[in-house]
Amino acid sequence: MESVLSAKNLKKSFSTPAGTIEVLTDINLAVAAGESVSVRGESGAGKTTLLQILGGLDTPDSGELFWNGERITKRGNAFLAKARTKLIGYVFQFFHLVPELTALENVLLAARIAGTPMRQARAQAKELLARVGLAERMTHLPTKLSGGECQRVAIARALINRPPLILADEPTGNLDERTGEAIMQLIIDVCREQNTALLLVTHNLDFAARTDRCLVLRHGILEDLKAK
Ligand SMILES: Nc1ncnc2c1ncn2[C@@H]1O[C@H](COP(=O)(O)OP(=O)(O)OP(=O)(O)O)[C@@H](O)[C@H]1O
Ligand SMILES: [Mg+2]
Repeated sequence: MESVLSAKNLKKSFSTPAGTIEVLTDINLAVAAGESVSVRGESGAGKTTLLQILGGLDTPDSGELFWNGERITKRGNAFLAKARTKLIGYVFQFFHLVPELTALENVLLAARIAGTPMRQARAQAKELLARVGLAERMTHLPTKLSGGECQRVAIARALINRPPLILADEPTGNLDERTGEAIMQLIIDVCREQNTALLLVTHNLDFAARTDRCLVLRHGILEDLKAK
Protein backbone atom coordinates (compact mmCIF):
# COMPACT_ATOMS: atom_id res chain seq x y z
CA MET A 1 0.00 0.00 0.00
CA GLU A 2 1.18 3.52 -0.75
CA SER A 3 2.40 5.57 2.18
CA VAL A 4 0.61 8.80 3.03
CA LEU A 5 3.95 10.10 4.19
CA SER A 6 7.47 8.91 3.57
CA ALA A 7 10.91 10.33 4.16
CA LYS A 8 14.30 9.22 2.89
CA ASN A 9 17.64 10.23 4.37
CA LEU A 10 16.39 13.54 5.74
CA LYS A 11 19.03 15.73 7.36
CA LYS A 12 18.64 18.99 9.22
CA SER A 13 21.13 21.10 11.10
CA PHE A 14 20.94 24.59 12.54
CA SER A 15 23.78 27.11 12.52
CA THR A 16 24.09 29.03 15.75
CA PRO A 17 26.77 31.43 17.00
CA ALA A 18 28.01 28.54 19.14
CA GLY A 19 28.37 26.25 16.13
CA THR A 20 26.30 23.87 14.04
CA ILE A 21 23.68 21.68 15.72
CA GLU A 22 23.05 18.48 13.80
CA VAL A 23 19.47 17.71 14.79
CA LEU A 24 18.34 15.15 12.22
CA THR A 25 21.13 13.07 10.71
CA ASP A 26 19.36 10.34 8.71
CA ILE A 27 15.59 10.14 9.00
CA ASN A 28 13.83 7.31 7.19
CA LEU A 29 10.13 6.80 7.71
CA ALA A 30 7.01 5.55 6.01
CA VAL A 31 3.51 5.99 7.40
CA ALA A 32 0.83 3.82 5.78
CA ALA A 33 -2.77 4.92 5.27
CA GLY A 34 -4.67 4.70 8.56
CA GLU A 35 -1.59 3.72 10.56
CA SER A 36 -0.79 5.32 13.91
CA VAL A 37 2.86 5.94 14.76
CA SER A 38 4.29 7.47 17.91
CA VAL A 39 7.60 9.29 18.22
CA ARG A 40 9.25 9.69 21.60
CA GLY A 41 12.59 11.27 22.38
CA GLU A 42 14.30 13.47 24.92
CA SER A 43 13.68 17.17 25.02
CA GLY A 44 15.83 18.73 22.29
CA ALA A 45 16.08 15.46 20.35
CA GLY A 46 14.47 17.14 17.34
CA LYS A 47 10.85 15.91 17.44
CA THR A 48 9.28 19.28 16.66
CA THR A 49 11.89 19.94 13.97
CA LEU A 50 11.03 16.56 12.43
CA LEU A 51 7.28 17.23 12.43
CA GLN A 52 7.79 20.68 10.94
CA ILE A 53 9.82 19.19 8.10
CA LEU A 54 7.42 16.29 7.51
CA GLY A 55 4.55 18.79 7.38
CA GLY A 56 6.38 21.02 4.89
CA LEU A 57 6.60 23.92 7.35
CA ASP A 58 10.39 23.75 7.33
CA THR A 59 12.84 22.42 4.75
CA PRO A 60 15.46 19.71 5.23
CA ASP A 61 19.10 20.32 4.26
CA SER A 62 19.00 17.14 2.18
CA GLY A 63 16.94 14.02 1.67
CA GLU A 64 13.54 13.47 0.17
CA LEU A 65 9.99 13.78 1.38
CA PHE A 66 6.90 12.27 -0.24
CA TRP A 67 3.23 13.04 0.42
CA ASN A 68 0.90 10.37 -0.95
CA GLY A 69 3.79 9.11 -3.06
CA GLU A 70 4.45 12.52 -4.60
CA ARG A 71 7.91 13.99 -4.11
CA ILE A 72 7.49 17.35 -2.46
CA THR A 73 11.07 18.28 -1.67
CA LYS A 74 12.00 21.56 -3.38
CA ARG A 75 8.42 22.31 -4.42
CA GLY A 76 7.32 25.94 -4.11
CA ASN A 77 5.40 27.39 -1.18
CA ALA A 78 2.14 27.78 -3.10
CA PHE A 79 2.15 24.09 -4.05
CA LEU A 80 3.03 23.07 -0.50
CA ALA A 81 0.33 25.19 1.08
CA LYS A 82 -2.36 23.75 -1.19
CA ALA A 83 -1.18 20.15 -0.87
CA ARG A 84 -0.82 20.49 2.90
CA THR A 85 -4.40 21.69 3.32
CA LYS A 86 -5.64 18.52 1.64
CA LEU A 87 -3.25 16.08 3.25
CA ILE A 88 -2.44 17.15 6.78
CA GLY A 89 -4.23 18.24 9.94
CA TYR A 90 -2.10 19.60 12.78
CA VAL A 91 -2.61 19.43 16.52
CA PHE A 92 -0.14 21.44 18.60
CA GLN A 93 0.74 21.53 22.28
CA PHE A 94 -0.50 25.10 22.68
CA PHE A 95 -3.66 24.69 20.56
CA HIS A 96 -3.01 27.76 18.34
CA LEU A 97 -6.66 28.76 18.06
CA VAL A 98 -7.55 32.20 16.72
CA PRO A 99 -8.57 34.09 19.89
CA GLU A 100 -11.16 36.34 18.20
CA LEU A 101 -13.06 33.43 16.67
CA THR A 102 -15.56 31.11 18.36
CA ALA A 103 -15.01 27.36 18.52
CA LEU A 104 -17.18 26.87 15.43
CA GLU A 105 -15.49 29.70 13.52
CA ASN A 106 -12.04 28.32 14.32
CA VAL A 107 -13.02 24.99 12.78
CA LEU A 108 -14.70 26.69 9.82
CA LEU A 109 -11.61 28.78 9.10
CA ALA A 110 -9.71 25.63 8.12
CA ALA A 111 -12.55 24.63 5.78
CA ARG A 112 -12.62 28.11 4.27
CA ILE A 113 -8.88 27.92 3.54
CA ALA A 114 -9.50 24.59 1.79
CA GLY A 115 -12.28 26.17 -0.29
CA THR A 116 -15.10 23.98 1.05
CA PRO A 117 -18.56 25.49 0.40
CA MET A 118 -19.59 27.08 3.71
CA ARG A 119 -23.00 25.40 4.03
CA GLN A 120 -21.46 21.97 3.80
CA ALA A 121 -18.52 22.97 6.02
CA ARG A 122 -20.83 24.36 8.71
CA ALA A 123 -22.74 21.08 8.96
CA GLN A 124 -19.50 19.08 9.10
CA ALA A 125 -17.94 21.40 11.68
CA LYS A 126 -20.96 21.09 13.95
CA GLU A 127 -20.91 17.33 13.59
CA LEU A 128 -17.21 17.19 14.44
CA LEU A 129 -17.54 19.54 17.41
CA ALA A 130 -20.33 17.32 18.72
CA ARG A 131 -18.09 14.27 18.18
CA VAL A 132 -15.34 15.81 20.32
CA GLY A 133 -17.86 16.61 23.06
CA LEU A 134 -18.40 20.32 22.41
CA ALA A 135 -22.00 20.44 21.17
CA GLU A 136 -22.78 22.95 23.92
CA ARG A 137 -19.66 25.09 23.44
CA MET A 138 -19.69 26.00 19.74
CA THR A 139 -20.16 29.73 20.22
CA HIS A 140 -17.54 30.07 22.97
CA LEU A 141 -14.38 32.06 22.36
CA PRO A 142 -11.14 30.20 23.22
CA THR A 143 -10.75 32.35 26.37
CA LYS A 144 -14.09 30.92 27.56
CA LEU A 145 -12.95 27.34 27.09
CA SER A 146 -10.78 25.12 29.28
CA GLY A 147 -7.43 23.85 27.96
CA GLY A 148 -8.92 20.44 27.23
CA GLU A 149 -11.83 22.06 25.42
CA CYS A 150 -9.46 24.20 23.34
CA GLN A 151 -7.61 21.06 22.31
CA ARG A 152 -10.93 19.43 21.34
CA VAL A 153 -11.60 22.40 19.05
CA ALA A 154 -8.11 22.01 17.58
CA ILE A 155 -8.79 18.32 16.94
CA ALA A 156 -12.05 19.16 15.14
CA ARG A 157 -10.19 21.81 13.14
CA ALA A 158 -7.48 19.30 12.19
CA LEU A 159 -10.12 16.86 10.92
CA ILE A 160 -12.54 19.19 9.11
CA ASN A 161 -10.90 18.78 5.70
CA ARG A 162 -10.80 15.00 6.14
CA PRO A 163 -7.02 14.81 5.74
CA PRO A 164 -5.50 11.32 5.46
CA LEU A 165 -2.84 12.31 8.04
CA ILE A 166 -2.76 14.04 11.42
CA LEU A 167 0.52 15.36 12.81
CA ALA A 168 0.28 15.91 16.55
CA ASP A 169 3.15 17.48 18.53
CA GLU A 170 2.72 16.73 22.24
CA PRO A 171 -1.02 17.44 22.07
CA THR A 172 -1.45 16.72 25.78
CA GLY A 173 1.73 18.43 26.94
CA ASN A 174 -0.19 21.43 28.25
CA LEU A 175 -3.04 19.54 29.94
CA ASP A 176 -3.46 17.92 33.33
CA GLU A 177 -3.16 14.15 33.51
CA ARG A 178 -6.87 13.28 33.41
CA THR A 179 -7.69 15.74 30.63
CA GLY A 180 -4.63 14.61 28.72
CA GLU A 181 -5.74 11.01 28.97
CA ALA A 182 -9.20 11.85 27.56
CA ILE A 183 -7.76 13.99 24.76
CA MET A 184 -5.23 11.36 23.75
CA GLN A 185 -7.87 8.64 23.60
CA LEU A 186 -10.08 10.98 21.57
CA ILE A 187 -7.32 11.63 19.01
CA ILE A 188 -6.58 7.93 18.67
CA ASP A 189 -10.30 7.01 18.46
CA VAL A 190 -11.30 9.62 15.86
CA CYS A 191 -8.29 8.83 13.71
CA ARG A 192 -9.23 5.13 13.79
CA GLU A 193 -12.90 5.89 13.01
CA GLN A 194 -11.96 8.01 10.02
CA ASN A 195 -9.06 5.81 8.90
CA THR A 196 -6.75 8.79 9.34
CA ALA A 197 -3.05 8.10 9.80
CA LEU A 198 -1.56 9.62 12.93
CA LEU A 199 2.00 10.66 13.66
CA LEU A 200 2.05 11.45 17.34
CA VAL A 201 4.88 13.03 19.31
CA THR A 202 4.51 12.26 23.00
CA HIS A 203 6.67 11.86 26.08
CA ASN A 204 4.15 9.47 27.58
CA LEU A 205 4.98 5.76 27.28
CA ASP A 206 1.37 4.69 27.87
CA PHE A 207 0.09 6.89 25.06
CA ALA A 208 2.86 5.76 22.73
CA ALA A 209 1.96 2.13 23.42
CA ARG A 210 -1.55 2.73 22.06
CA THR A 211 -0.23 3.42 18.54
CA ASP A 212 0.42 0.73 15.94
CA ARG A 213 4.15 1.49 15.86
CA CYS A 214 6.47 3.12 18.40
CA LEU A 215 9.54 5.03 17.28
CA VAL A 216 12.19 6.84 19.27
CA LEU A 217 14.18 9.77 17.91
CA ARG A 218 17.72 9.47 19.19
CA HIS A 219 21.00 10.89 17.86
CA GLY A 220 19.16 12.22 14.83
CA ILE A 221 17.68 8.94 13.64
CA LEU A 222 14.39 7.11 14.21
CA GLU A 223 14.65 3.77 15.95
CA ASP A 224 11.80 1.30 15.58
CA LEU A 225 10.99 -0.04 19.05
CA LYS A 226 8.17 -2.42 18.43
CA ALA A 227 6.30 -3.63 15.41
CA LYS A 228 2.87 -5.02 16.31
N1 LIG B 1 15.47 27.61 14.47
C1 LIG B 1 16.41 27.04 15.21
N2 LIG B 1 17.66 27.55 15.27
C2 LIG B 1 18.62 26.96 16.01
N3 LIG B 1 18.43 25.84 16.74
C3 LIG B 1 17.22 25.29 16.73
C4 LIG B 1 16.14 25.85 15.98
N4 LIG B 1 15.04 25.07 16.17
C5 LIG B 1 15.42 24.09 17.01
N5 LIG B 1 16.72 24.20 17.34
C6 LIG B 1 17.50 23.29 18.19
O1 LIG B 1 17.31 21.99 17.67
C7 LIG B 1 17.18 21.02 18.70
C8 LIG B 1 15.88 20.26 18.52
O2 LIG B 1 14.78 21.10 18.82
P1 LIG B 1 13.28 20.57 18.82
O3 LIG B 1 12.40 21.71 19.16
O4 LIG B 1 13.03 19.91 17.51
O5 LIG B 1 13.32 19.49 19.98
P2 LIG B 1 12.15 18.61 20.61
O6 LIG B 1 12.57 17.18 20.52
O7 LIG B 1 10.86 18.98 19.97
O8 LIG B 1 12.16 19.06 22.14
P3 LIG B 1 10.95 19.19 23.21
O9 LIG B 1 10.65 17.79 23.68
O10 LIG B 1 11.53 20.02 24.30
O11 LIG B 1 9.79 19.86 22.52
C9 LIG B 1 17.28 21.79 20.00
O12 LIG B 1 18.60 21.66 20.48
C10 LIG B 1 16.97 23.22 19.61
O13 LIG B 1 17.63 24.12 20.45
MG1 LIG C 1 9.07 19.84 20.68
